[in-house]
Amino acid sequence: MTFTTDQSTAAAFAQSWNNLPAGSIYTHEQFIDWLTPLTKDDVQGKKVLELGCGNGSLLTHMANWQPSLLVGVDLGDSVAAAKKNLAALPFKHWQIIKADLVEWQSDGFDVVYCIGVLHHLQEPRAGFAAVIRNVKPGGQFHIWVYAREGNGVIICLVDPLRKIVSRCLPWWMIKYGIATPLAVPFFLYAKLLFYLPRLTWLRRLPLYQYCLWIAKREFSFFRHVAFDQLITPQTTYLSRETIESWLKNNRRVDQDSVYIISRNGNSWKFGGRVK
Ligand SMILES: C[S@@+](CC[C@H](N)C(=O)[O-])C[C@H]1O[C@@H](n2cnc3c(N)ncnc32)[C@H](O)[C@@H]1O
Repeated sequence: MTFTTDQSTAAAFAQSWNNLPAGSIYTHEQFIDWLTPLTKDDVQGKKVLELGCGNGSLLTHMANWQPSLLVGVDLGDSVAAAKKNLAALPFKHWQIIKADLVEWQSDGFDVVYCIGVLHHLQEPRAGFAAVIRNVKPGGQFHIWVYAREGNGVIICLVDPLRKIVSRCLPWWMIKYGIATPLAVPFFLYAKLLFYLPRLTWLRRLPLYQYCLWIAKREFSFFRHVAFDQLITPQTTYLSRETIESWLKNNRRVDQDSVYIISRNGNSWKFGGRVK
C-alpha cells in the first residue's frame, strides 16, 4: 500500500503517541495556554470537535469544561491511545474517529479546535478549510501552528536534520539515538534562561520566550518535543501573512471576529467565528 504524506505523518506520530505513559502529556496550565482566548464558557454544554487529536492529551482536559459532546478525529493509530485516555475519565460523551481531517465532513460543531496539526499537513490550507467547514454557523474555531517568525534556529538546524532522519531511521533510533541527546542541551539552555534575571538583552537570544514556557516542564517533555520535531516527514512554518490571507479569503469567516495572537514568539494562535 502506498501512503500519502499525511498518512506517513500520522503513522510517525502514532509511534510517538502510542509509546507514552497513560493520560495527558500536558499540564492544565498548558491546555489553558493553548486554548486561550477560548474559555470554559465557550464550551460548556456545546458540541466540540478536535481535529488531529493525537493521544487525546487536549481532549482529556477539554472534558473538564463539560461539553455536551466531545469528538476527536485523527488519521493515525494514536486513536487507540486517545480512546484509552478518554475511557479512563468519568466524562462519557466522547467519540474518537479515525479519519483524514482534510476530507472528513460532519453536521457541524459549536467549537472546532486544531492544535499543532495544520503545519504537518501536505496542504495546510486544505486543513484550514476543513476546520471552517466543520463549524456550525455562529460557531467558533481556534487553531495553533508553528510560525515562520521566531523559528530561525529550528528552520536552519533542526529542520534539515528532520528531513533526513524522518525518512531514513526507525522511530526508536530517532527517539533514543537523536532526540534524547539533542534534548539535553535544549533542556539546559531553557533552564538557564529561566533562572537568569529577565535582562532586556537576553530576550534577543533564540527561542527566548519559548524557553521560558517550556522550562517549567521536566526533561521527558523536552524529549517528547524534540522527538515530535524529528519524527514527522512534513512540517511547514507558517507566516502571519499566510494566516491573514487564509482568514481574509474564506467567505464563511466573520472578519469582525478574527484574532491572530503570537504565542511564545515562535507560533501563532488564531481563530474567530463562522457566519
Ligand atoms: C503534533 S500532533 C498534535 C496532536 C494534538 N492536537 C495535541 O496537541 O496533542 C499532530 C496530529 O495530527 C495528526 N494528523 C496529521 N495529519 C492528519 C490528517 N490528515 N488527518 C487527521 N489527523 C492528522 C497526526 O496523526 C497527529 O496525531
